[in-house]
Amino acid sequence: MIVAAAAVAAAAMAPLAATVKPILTHINDNSMAISWGYLNPNDSLPSSLRSRVRYGFAANNLTETVTSTPTMMTSPTENMTGYDYCGHDYEHHILHHVQLKNLPTPETIYYCADEIASSSKLETCGSFKTSTPSSSAELRFYATADVGDPVSHSWTAIPQMSKQCQVDDLYPIDVSLGFHVGDIAYNLDIPQRGDDYIAGVSSNMGSQFPWMFAPGNHEADCNYTYQNYKGRFAAQNFTSATHGVPSKSSRWYSFDKGPVHFVAIDTDAWGFDEVAYILKQQYDWLTQDLEAVDKSITPWVVLMGHRPMYCSSASAIVQSHLGWPKQHDDMPKGTPAPDNYGDEFRKHGFHPPSWSELELLSSDNDGDNNYPCGIADLLRNGMIHADGSGDRSYGLETLMQQYQVNVYLTGHEHNYERTWPIMNGTQVNSYDQPGKPVHIVTGSGGAYGKDPFGPVAPFDAYRSSDWSYSDIFVNNSHFILNQRLANDSSVIDTMVLTR
Ligand SMILES: [Fe+2]
Repeated sequence: MIVAAAAVAAAAMAPLAATVKPILTHINDNSMAISWGYLNPNDSLPSSLRSRVRYGFAANNLTETVTSTPTMMTSPTENMTGYDYCGHDYEHHILHHVQLKNLPTPETIYYCADEIASSSKLETCGSFKTSTPSSSAELRFYATADVGDPVSHSWTAIPQMSKQCQVDDLYPIDVSLGFHVGDIAYNLDIPQRGDDYIAGVSSNMGSQFPWMFAPGNHEADCNYTYQNYKGRFAAQNFTSATHGVPSKSSRWYSFDKGPVHFVAIDTDAWGFDEVAYILKQQYDWLTQDLEAVDKSITPWVVLMGHRPMYCSSASAIVQSHLGWPKQHDDMPKGTPAPDNYGDEFRKHGFHPPSWSELELLSSDNDGDNNYPCGIADLLRNGMIHADGSGDRSYGLETLMQQYQVNVYLTGHEHNYERTWPIMNGTQVNSYDQPGKPVHIVTGSGGAYGKDPFGPVAPFDAYRSSDWSYSDIFVNNSHFILNQRLANDSSVIDTMVLTR
């Protein structure tokens, strides 16, 4: 009996190693986080379990060791069945996040990640290049959005991005950073998809250079807790800029790399009742962070958020396009808003976003042009006060203008769209020191379907419905975007922006 009990205990501790491949998170110039996780067959975290990373300057000489305490994430699963899809079952994941600090720059670091006190050998090894210091001359990075996972569907752009990241056909520099600007794996809380996504991106690029995220509506999880996003990407809590303000949040944060100050935000705050409570906290932080930027060190400021501020997708013109889980893609026209829709926004003193096409057009949330683009007007100009005063709060364009944000990278619409430099609906048809930000929808990474375009908007410089991704080179004076096809990396669009 004793032997049998011990065997049962050992089996209970043995993890199902669905995801042992790590992904890297940029913390700052001298620190990198290594994260991995897996499905846990039971609901307990062994008290003796520790995360461990050994690292050094050679694969056969790992001289340094860092350990930390893992966490367990228990989250409701989503079954995608009808409208009763949430929380009939739960999954438990053990998640490891280990920070390597005081790394020399630039240098190649070899590492092996494993566990202490695990009955299962999980060791995985790799290497990465540490950052060149902030203010270094140049940087090449990737951006994509709206990508599925490698097993079930919509993994379209990732393999080609992986093939291309060290091909220096345009500029003599490798990619050293990647962004997935929301809608990850469709969805992280559906069994296996989150694990498959991380294993897939790790195998392709995510274990070689930092792979960073901004949350999209699909990261809300089926119960609006964002639990899978916050748990799996918790290392982003520690990301910070040399000249910025640490946020201690994975959903909005900033960092400096090369000549760029990067800022990620959660744009669901302007769209989902359930997230209205973060509006002030996030906006106050964003204001302070942008105030702290030193443009003599990072002359470029790149803002990233999942929902666009300018777009001409047909889907976004004719509806609010709040997205899953608030509005299913197949929701019939005329479906009424749920009971209590908007109550949380009203509690904060704001009108909620329009629910339907008719409401959007009749209330004219978007009074300043004919391209509503979902909740773009609320993002640009702020939430509308419910007291009838006409006042607005938490508009992003005010901050973008005041602090000279150069580029907004976004997704949500499943296509590629590049605007002329534009502010408050006024554009300049030149990228030569425009003094206004450019908006790039790069939601063409490989979603479950495409969003067709409506009529061409005055602000449009280029649109494409092909699956594609953004390959971006930046130096002190130039920001050059090449949009590459997902099937062969050929360039379909180039933007040369100067400051
Ligand atoms: Fe989305």
